[in-house]
Amino acid sequence: MQKLEELYKGKAKSVYATDDADHFIMHFRNDTSAFDGKKLAQLDRKGMVNNKFNAFIMAKLQEAGVPTHFEKLLSDTECLVKKLKMIPVECVIRNYAAGSLCRRLGIQEGRHISPPTFELFLKDDSLGDPMINDSHAETFGWATKAQLQQMRELTYKVNEVLQPLFEQGGMLLVDFKLEFGLFHDQLILGDEFSPDGCRLWDAETREKMDKDRFRQDLGNVIEFYEEVGKRLGVVF
Ligand SMILES: Nc1ncnc2c1ncn2[C@@H]1O[C@H](COP(=O)(O)OP(=O)(O)O)[C@@H](O)[C@H]1O
Ligand SMILES: [Mg+2]
Repeated sequence: MQKLEELYKGKAKSVYATDDADHFIMHFRNDTSAFDGKKLAQLDRKGMVNNKFNAFIMAKLQEAGVPTHFEKLLSDTECLVKKLKMIPVECVIRNYAAGSLCRRLGIQEGRHISPPTFELFLKDDSLGDPMINDSHAETFGWATKAQLQQMRELTYKVNEVLQPLFEQGGMLLVDFKLEFGLFHDQLILGDEFSPDGCRLWDAETREKMDKDRFRQDLGNVIEFYEEVGKRLGVVF
């Protein structure tokens, strides 16, 4: 597999073309961003940690029957993925209240949410990733009714698979964000699952172990990402 030109440079990863029309190479950089790209930093080892963490989680999801774009690790910071036409809608499940939910609805941080909520956001940094509903997505052509139904079912399935996994490592899966895309018309999970796109708290102390450490200047960001990985059995 030959790595060709960089097609897209996102806030944390770069996507490269390959000599195979169906595959991309995804490169995890050390770049870290928050607040729609307004806060930026370089964190040592982050690319490697998130790449290996993501590979571990994607393999677990694939085993559990969730179709994903992940094919294999290529290096410390790169993996091979299926080339997707991304759907610009972020799917979020919340098991505990945190972040924008608390601000929007006045729910106290840390409250257990049962049943878990499912939310959609338009992936558009210039608009601040606004919350949308199914009707917006259908009307403006971001996703069809059938795709939305599948995205919702798969996101709940991911929650069913990952909640117990993190629980075994003494962590609460507070919330997480997924992105989906189309591979020859088949809807599959794309992008990444890492502590950059979810919230994880220590189950006992409720210490934050995810990107909120960066957002809130709590320090030791990557040390905590590595701790999360170690508790799950990820080999870095
Ligand atoms: N398999 C895939 N095929 C095509 N694009 C993908 C795939 N997986 C992820 N992407 C897209 O690649 C980009 C990954 O880089 P990232 O740094 O997360 O970008 P962003 O700043 O847009 O979130 C995202 O825009 C994501 O939607
Ligand atoms: Mg991203």
